[in-house]
Amino acid sequence: MRAHGGVFLIRLMYMVTLMPGLEEVASQEISELGGKIIEIRSGHGRILFEGDIDLIPKLNYLARTIERVLALLTVEKFQTLDDIYKIVKSLDFREWIRPDQSFAIRPLRVGEHDFTSIDVGRVAGQAVIDNYLEAKGVRLKVNLNNPDVIIRVDVIFDTVYVGIDTTGDTALHKRGYRIYQHPAPLNPSIAASLIRLAGWKVDERFLDPMCGSGTILIEAAMMGRNIPPGKFRVTNYAFHKILGEDTLKRVMASVQEKRDLLMELYGVEKFRKHIKGALINADKAGVFDTITVIRGDATRLEELFRDPFDVVVVNPPYGLRIARKGIIRDLYFGFLRSLKNLLHERSRVVIITSEDEVLRSAAMKNKYVIRREMRVKYGDLDTTVFLMGIT
Ligand SMILES: C[S@@+](CC[C@H](N)C(=O)[O-])C[C@H]1O[C@@H](n2cnc3c(N)ncnc32)[C@H](O)[C@@H]1O
Repeated sequence: MRAHGGVFLIRLMYMVTLMPGLEEVASQEISELGGKIIEIRSGHGRILFEGDIDLIPKLNYLARTIERVLALLTVEKFQTLDDIYKIVKSLDFREWIRPDQSFAIRPLRVGEHDFTSIDVGRVAGQAVIDNYLEAKGVRLKVNLNNPDVIIRVDVIFDTVYVGIDTTGDTALHKRGYRIYQHPAPLNPSIAASLIRLAGWKVDERFLDPMCGSGTILIEAAMMGRNIPPGKFRVTNYAFHKILGEDTLKRVMASVQEKRDLLMELYGVEKFRKHIKGALINADKAGVFDTITVIRGDATRLEELFRDPFDVVVVNPPYGLRIARKGIIRDLYFGFLRSLKNLLHERSRVVIITSEDEVLRSAAMKNKYVIRREMRVKYGDLDTTVFLMGIT
């Protein structure tokens, strides 16, 4: 691989990171975009795959379900901090970092270890400096705030993953359309994953009955219109400093948006200010004209709609940030009871919540069929994604 010379000889190994638990749906998207899946590290939020260098701009600009794209340098088992030094020291950074460029290690540590992530950053940084000094006779500069090249060293239990971050400090879920900030918004990459899980097709009637600032509806509309998730990104991707800007321009030119496509995407929300916010965000994302948001109560949906929905995707309150636990039980029960009137036998309902027992019990009382449950780590929160229907 020759990143700076413009000649690319071999295929690269990649790793993407994402919310642990959603690896399967993300790996389908990576395959569609041209990656050859090598290994899905379920529960680790990591997918390893192979592909040519064009995947760097392509995945960063077009993939909806992931957080970061790394050019993977190695994955190895280790025991001590010294092993991490040796592993990083043995890698070849010459193709990725020019002698005049600065770098930073961004360490991450998950599991029990007798060292901290700061220790990982320190030894890995020293290993890169020592390696480059031996290979090129140049002492690389470290710049923690604004590095030219970011090296990720993820220590996950007994395994260390080292890669060049092609995305940068601003992860891919920061789409750039969120002008209105809801107090408990859903991560757009998770929203996109849930829509894929539901198997939504553009001609199907879609509902988010507690839509807040509209993230789920906006992601569905952008998918339907083929609007790239990176279109409104405000920060440069890290790969600009490695590959130059032209590679992204080629990907941008290849996208064909379906600007006039109208879809049946409905949202219901209790609070007027969130509805206003959802419409502001939808407008910024270029999908205002295909989303309908109605002020109303998710436990009385039959008063708002007559025709059934094919797909329902919802991120209800969990009782943590914006509602008390006590009302969650009534809300989940009332919402599922009401929704039942608007489903047909092929409808798919996808719900993400940390209140899995409350949801399961409300679903059982209302005689829903739970087809799948997936544990998804959402930051520090353990959530469950339910895929259900009425038959
Ligand atoms: C977790 S938030 C959804 C956030 C949304 N996914 C986003 O990204 O902005 C849940 C939303 O449900 C709304 N809500 C709560 N109870 C409701 C009800 N009975 N009917 C309609 N909306 C309700 C809340 O006002 C809140 O905006």
